[in-house]
Amino acid sequence: MKNLQKGPLILSGNAHSSLANEISKYIGQTLTKAEVFKFNNDNTFVRILENVRERDVFIIQPTSFPVNDNIMELLIMIDAAKRASAGRITAVMPYFSYARTDKKDQPRVPITGRLIADLITTAGADRVMLMDLHAGQVQGFFSSTVDELTALPILARYFFDKKLDNIVVVSPDTGGTKRARDFASKLRAPLAIIEKRRIGNKDTVESLNIIGSVEGMTAIVFDDEINTGSTMISAGEILIKNGAKQVYISATHGIFPNDSLNKLLDSNDIKEIVVTNTLPIEHKHDKLTILSISELIGEAIKRINRGDSVGALFM
Ligand code: R5P
Repeated sequence: MKNLQKGPLILSGNAHSSLANEISKYIGQTLTKAEVFKFNNDNTFVRILENVRERDVFIIQPTSFPVNDNIMELLIMIDAAKRASAGRITAVMPYFSYARTDKKDQPRVPITGRLIADLITTAGADRVMLMDLHAGQVQGFFSSTVDELTALPILARYFFDKKLDNIVVVSPDTGGTKRARDFASKLRAPLAIIEKRRIGNKDTVESLNIIGSVEGMTAIVFDDEINTGSTMISAGEILIKNGAKQVYISATHGIFPNDSLNKLLDSNDIKEIVVTNTLPIEHKHDKLTILSISELIGEAIKRINRGDSVGALFM
């Protein structure tokens, strides 16, 4: 007999413990105690230290750096919860690495997003909670139930409250047009689109043209993620060259490998970087704003546990 009505239990791996703590605080309970560490032979070990039998277990683990280790930790935690007779297990991955490796677009390449989804389901996750996937269709890689949340209202509210004049929302590439259009309509702003070209499999990006008018306007470049920042730096350059008054950049996920965040912060074309805490970001800077998604995830967890609508959160 499942004891889901006793309320959710929140477990955290090592990927983003501050987010997990914020989420459990919002829900009004402490994190379920667990040991998650590596032996000196590099093998990951997990032991859940409290009873989870028949309970509604949520494991918070975005796939942040080190990505492969954190994926492995998540799989082992799911297995531990399953073998401890959890009633239902939800893998909460606010950032899902490998989601962009979603098609065979070159000869002899893998579809790693699908592979990871299969591993998560095979490990025993009954449900998955994701946020702002690069492409929504990736939900279909999971045979288990998926709830995809979006940080778009949180980011839009931030810019709305800034009361900026004469804004234009800009998609940094044609692929992100729908996402940017949704953001523009929340802000009741016009849309412009940059024609971007990615050169090879590396992080070299070229912004070629702008479709739409940006002259004299405050541009907010909106994307699902900022990785190396090449896309945003190149967008900032072309926007300023075409007469934009100032450029803000915003995305749900700030990945920022190596020194990419410093490069973005050093760019004179970019006034502010606004992302959420789907991934841990230690850096602090006047030009960097990190908005929290913990209440959104906490509320979604409460609703899933009670059997209430998650979609209603975004109406
Ligand atoms: C891909 O098209 C995504 O939407 C982002 O534009 C991309 O991940 C950004 O990557 P980077 O910051 O390395 O240019």
